[in-house]
Amino acid sequence: MQTLYFVVPCVIIFFLLVFPNGFCLADTNMKSSSQCSQADNYSDSESTFQTNLRTLLDSLASNVVQNHGFYQTIVGKKANRVYGTVLCRGDISASNCSDCTLNSTRVASNDCPMSKDVSIWFRWCFLRYSNVSFFGDMQQTAVAITNETDFDDPSVVSEGLPFMSGLAAVAPDKSFMFHTEVLNTSQSGQKRYGMAQCTRDISRVDCRRCLDSQLENFRTVIGNKRRWEIYGSNCFMWYNDYQFYSNGSTLLSAAWRPSSYTTLIIGMTLAVSAALFMLF
Ligand SMILES: *[C@@H]1O[C@H](CO)[C@@H](O)[C@H](O)[C@H]1NC(C)=O
Ligand SMILES: *[C@@H]1O[C@H](CO)[C@@H](O)[C@H](O)[C@H]1NC(C)=O
Ligand SMILES: *[C@@H]1O[C@H](CO)[C@@H](O)[C@H](O)[C@H]1NC(C)=O
Ligand SMILES: *[C@@H]1O[C@H](CO)[C@@H](O)[C@H](O)[C@H]1NC(C)=O
Ligand SMILES: *[C@@H]1O[C@H](CO)[C@@H](O)[C@H](O)[C@H]1NC(C)=O
Ligand SMILES: *[C@@H]1O[C@H](CO)[C@@H](O)[C@H](O)[C@H]1NC(C)=O
Ligand SMILES: *[C@@H]1O[C@H](CO)[C@@H](O)[C@H](O)[C@H]1NC(C)=O
Repeated sequence: MQTLYFVVPCVIIFFLLVFPNGFCLADTNMKSSSQCSQADNYSDSESTFQTNLRTLLDSLASNVVQNHGFYQTIVGKKANRVYGTVLCRGDISASNCSDCTLNSTRVASNDCPMSKDVSIWFRWCFLRYSNVSFFGDMQQTAVAITNETDFDDPSVVSEGLPFMSGLAAVAPDKSFMFHTEVLNTSQSGQKRYGMAQCTRDISRVDCRRCLDSQLENFRTVIGNKRRWEIYGSNCFMWYNDYQFYSNGSTLLSAAWRPSSYTTLIIGMTLAVSAALFMLF
């Protein structure tokens, strides 16, 4: 049985949902999860918000590739302002990044038509927009996807989490905060593959904290599994028994460094607002 686990920071709640599509063995794209804020009834004056949103989504889709798979922008003024982010998985091609972004904007309009704070997770890209600024603000809300009964070999289990912990330590210091690694397990010929990535609006320190807390929060769920994926608002970690990522990337070809954000405080309010979201 395929299962989704939702973790909201501070008040740690696990949401168990049956995952309809089954765990993907090939590296194909599909929607993994979505989160919509409570629907708003847009009044006439607020249709400006919808217009701005449309402009924002178009802008994200047309700029994401030239910005190496990560783009943020703001459209509109005051109450009708909308903030948006898109991040493509670091190893996918430019055309697949662009297609995934377009598809995610369509899914957003379809799944959450009246919501002002929306997150859509595809396997290859992540889209978020909101009427409230979230840029640079590290959030720990995350979904883990694994197969509850697909346990790994006990001798490999003891190596998996330390391996991913190592990846969490290395990824923040990589350009683009994207990193993949291969684990040669003590079982000869048995390999495991890991990936970690952060959105580039947070600092390297927050990236590390984000990845570490995902491993910590989901430890009991993923620790003994052969394959799993964690999708967050600011960071992502995948673990599998085959090389799911491609070797070279055209997306991430130029040097890049994050801006230096000061450490942001993650308040209880995040947990409270996250709890108001409807889960799909
Ligand atoms: C939106 O409209 C529907 C139907 O008219 C109503 O049931 C709902 O409570 C409204 N929601 C808000 C947030 O006003
Ligand atoms: C964002 O939208 C929500 C829901 O309509 C509203 O309650 C909130 O005040 C808005 N925030 C801003 C900064 O506009
Ligand atoms: C896009 O993804 C598909 C499906 O995995 C793959 O076959 C194709 O090669 C990818 N496109 C590029 C340009 O890499
Ligand atoms: C985007 O959606 C189209 C139509 O559903 C589909 O054929 C295509 O494979 C999708 N591409 C990606 C990268 O998700
Ligand atoms: C989950 O894992 C079990 C045991 O390996 C397997 O039999 C089952 O088909 C898997 N389920 C899915 C949805 O992949
Ligand atoms: C894992 O094994 C391969 C050969 O199968 C080798 O090239 C690679 O360096 C090894 N990696 C580590 C981290 O030991
Ligand atoms: C990536 O490169 C490694 C060694 O260079 C090779 O064994 C592997 O098959 C390649 N994987 C893919 C998906 O191209």
